[in-house]
Amino acid sequence: MPKVLVVHGPNLNMLGQRETDVYGDEDLNQIDEQIKKEADALGLEVDTKQSNEEGELVGLIQEANEKFDALIINPAAFTHYSIAIRDAVAAVKIPVIEVHISNIYAREEFRHKSVVSAVAKGVISGFGSQSYLLGLKALKSLLS
Ligand code: DQA
Repeated sequence: MPKVLVVHGPNLNMLGQRETDVYGDEDLNQIDEQIKKEADALGLEVDTKQSNEEGELVGLIQEANEKFDALIINPAAFTHYSIAIRDAVAAVKIPVIEVHISNIYAREEFRHKSVVSAVAKGVISGFGSQSYLLGLKALKSLLS
């Protein structure tokens, strides 16, 4: 069974309390539960992680390359400026899908640029927590 790691970046542990008009009411545990359910239905093995720290996220990306067949990452605010995260994504051989809960192109201008997108296999942005589930579906067809 293909193994997928889902990584949530900074402040996503605050989902359900944080800017609910933008990110919705579900908390991260609820989203992780949906991710596990969808992965089960698709025949994918999944693990989920969250970190508020850039270095830790780089470590998780590198670890995914060793232990997983694909990575879904929401780099959150790091999307817009972390060259370290971009370089980590560029360095791995497994497919990486960048996801966002909100549509970053419909928000403030500083969110319109992602330094990660150019090195990701693809990007899904704006479908709420469904963005992660769409990422799993995309990987299912990519990996089979
Ligand atoms: C986000 C969008 C980013 O601009 C923001 O910094 C986040 C979450 C999203 O999922 O919509 O923290 O990645």
